[in-house]
Amino acid sequence: MKGNSILLLLVMAIFVMGHFHLLYPISRGDNVDKMNTFPCGGLSESTNRTKLPYGNFPVSVRLGHSSSAMEVLISLDYPEDAFPIISTFGVKGQGQFCLPDVEFDPRKMGIDKESVNATIMVQTNGDPDGGLYACADVEFAKDTKVMGADCRNNTKFEIVTFKGEGEKLHANESTPDGYKQTHDNKNDAGKTDLLNWGISYILVLAWYFCM
Ligand SMILES: *[C@@H]1O[C@H](CO)[C@@H](O)[C@H](O)[C@H]1NC(C)=O
Ligand SMILES: *[C@@H]1O[C@H](CO)[C@@H](O)[C@H](O)[C@H]1NC(C)=O
Ligand SMILES: *[C@@H]1O[C@H](CO)[C@@H](O)[C@H](O)[C@H]1NC(C)=O
Ligand SMILES: *[C@@H]1O[C@H](CO)[C@@H](O)[C@H](O)[C@H]1NC(C)=O
Repeated sequence: MKGNSILLLLVMAIFVMGHFHLLYPISRGDNVDKMNTFPCGGLSESTNRTKLPYGNFPVSVRLGHSSSAMEVLISLDYPEDAFPIISTFGVKGQGQFCLPDVEFDPRKMGIDKESVNATIMVQTNGDPDGGLYACADVEFAKDTKVMGADCRNNTKFEIVTFKGEGEKLHANESTPDGYKQTHDNKNDAGKTDLLNWGISYILVLAWYFCM
């Protein structure tokens, strides 16, 4: 029985491997099967907001693909008016990945208040197309510090700046290499997906024969 449960866990782990997780600011939640739903993976706004300072803050994710297009947007009036604070870039590497200094400058946005609520939206290219979405509800304030952020990279990541048309694409319309998605494209994500399905199939068979 124990062996079967472990195999089942392995199968599940492989299914969710292709997605990404928003670790910081604290995500609205994990919702793997609806993660391709714009704009926040089907999860509604949370009243439990991560407090962030005016200035710089970290954005930490766990990437499930070895190659992704990623973008960070902010909405000051969720779900309206989302705009990029980190426009789409490519990232090569898999696992925990953290951008330590994402800038929120209230003056640039014409904000003249002690605090302001916002939603940080992280999106990557989809699996195999469209986008994957995760959001964090936050409260920016003057005299706050970043707390409880585990900002590190667990391996060597390479950031790729997209050129030409790729520069202007949102991550949900881009391939991991910065090209416009087409409906029949077989990008890296698609290949990983196929591989995951293959491994899952073998594990399901192994599970069946163990019983
Ligand atoms: C931010 O949202 C929280 C709860 O969601 C609310 O209590 C607070 O008043 C809001 N702050 C601002 C500046 O609107
Ligand atoms: C709010 O979020 C923090 C950080 O994730 C968590 O520790 C806390 O339990 C949450 N509070 C509520 C009321 O959900
Ligand atoms: C993670 O790697 C990227 C790309 O090399 C780098 O820009 C970033 O600063 C690294 N994050 C940390 C926490 O070192
Ligand atoms: C892709 O993301 C952008 C930026 O958030 C958004 O404006 C657009 O509607 C999204 N596209 C789809 C098909 O959801």
